[in-house]
Amino acid sequence: MTIEGRSVEQAHAMLERSAGVYRDRRDLMLGYQWSQRLEGYARLGPFLDFHIDNIGDPFSPSLTALNSKEYEREVLDYFARLWHARSPSDVADPDSYWGYVLSMGSTEGNLFAMWNARDYLSGSDLLADGRALERRREPVLFYSGDAHYSLAKGAAMLRLPTFHELGGSRYPGQCPITATGQWPAAVPSVGGCTGTGSIDVGELAALVEFFADRGHPPCIMLNLGSTFKGACDVPEAVWNEIEGVLLRNGLRDESNGSGRQGYWLHIDGALGAGFLPFVEMAAEQGLIAESGPRFDFRLPYVSSIVTSGHKWFGTPFPTGVYMSKQKLRMAPPSDPRYIGSPDTTLSGARNGLSSLLLWYALSLRGHADQVRAACDALDLADYLVQRLRELENSAGTPLWVERAEHALAVRFRRPAESIVAQFGLVGERAYLDDGADRDYVHVFCMPHVTKQVIEKLLTELSAPSAFSR
Ligand SMILES: Cc1ncc(COP(=O)(O)O)c(C=O)c1O
Repeated sequence: MTIEGRSVEQAHAMLERSAGVYRDRRDLMLGYQWSQRLEGYARLGPFLDFHIDNIGDPFSPSLTALNSKEYEREVLDYFARLWHARSPSDVADPDSYWGYVLSMGSTEGNLFAMWNARDYLSGSDLLADGRALERRREPVLFYSGDAHYSLAKGAAMLRLPTFHELGGSRYPGQCPITATGQWPAAVPSVGGCTGTGSIDVGELAALVEFFADRGHPPCIMLNLGSTFKGACDVPEAVWNEIEGVLLRNGLRDESNGSGRQGYWLHIDGALGAGFLPFVEMAAEQGLIAESGPRFDFRLPYVSSIVTSGHKWFGTPFPTGVYMSKQKLRMAPPSDPRYIGSPDTTLSGARNGLSSLLLWYALSLRGHADQVRAACDALDLADYLVQRLRELENSAGTPLWVERAEHALAVRFRRPAESIVAQFGLVGERAYLDDGADRDYVHVFCMPHVTKQVIEKLLTELSAPSAFSR
């Protein structure tokens, strides 16, 4: 007997049933930014017979022979090329990249970035020279109202104060961007709840200036594909606005006598850092008119980037990539002999299958395939917007159809719950300035989403009862 008193045969039958249910539902999964285009992974079935573990640093040998660090390093090199990081990774080259493949998704990468940023900015020991800052500093965290909830969670776990917390406790009533001086919970996005979803660069710069002038080094988390709207912040625009303030406060670069810069700029590219490089390639090839914002290590002020493997690329379980630079790394808090390799990542045991799967996915699909998939996904999002607008005109009901630039997310009025359930749509409530609210859902046009499924959704949305409450 197995759990719940089932026989092994009953357990097998149950698994088969579940696999069938998942198969039937997969193509209709429109609500989350997870690619369900996962062809070919069955080939990696034999690896399920081993526990493959990349415990410790990807660039150091393991005590366990059953590791996939060789694959992990190839995956990292791929992303280093994709994101124009300086390669190869080399501890002796401060500007070369360092990173690792995540066992969780971008949540882990965001947490790791915030942990590293907090310790870097406050002045703890650097990995490179083991030196701490003589004068400790108190960093402050900024993210927009459209940022993923992992940032608030990470800030709470790490006790890394947001500008809201630090402002409220240390500088009450002095917020430079509100009429009352009250500190908002997050940096406003352009146009508020129903706006584009991109961070308001002017407001961010005013907040950064306020804190930088009072000695607080900023840790700025930017979105490259926000969770609900799929919106991108524009790192170059942010830098142009804050560079002068950082310079004036001796925070801009390492030449301030402390040997380290006084800011951290993280790119939360859970979906966008995987997808937008191929949009840029498509634009270069003349396949589409414009690429998205530049976000990668070509911008020397980008400190770290994260992306999820299961979003644009598609893997059967959460994974992702964190990448930064050698010179920004912190000395790990301990040096456990037990793992035979420096403990420079977040977890202990690290999922070695993730590296194998990502390696395989990247080997199977070259850039040409990814560029085509990116163009198809953008075309499908265009098509959905156009058809929803037609539907709105013919139905005479406002559907609030919205889409951020280069986003694969299309937002519209929440339909009947049966439609929400059938297509796995995901909702959010927006609060307007006049006190009214709106219930939205979104569709993410990920690589597995076909035009046929979009037509099926549109047919459902065309029914007279689709939007009646
Ligand atoms: C912008 C953004 N950041 C971080 C995450 C968290 O990623 P994961 O679910 O891979 O941990 C998401 C997830 O949707 C996201 O949209």
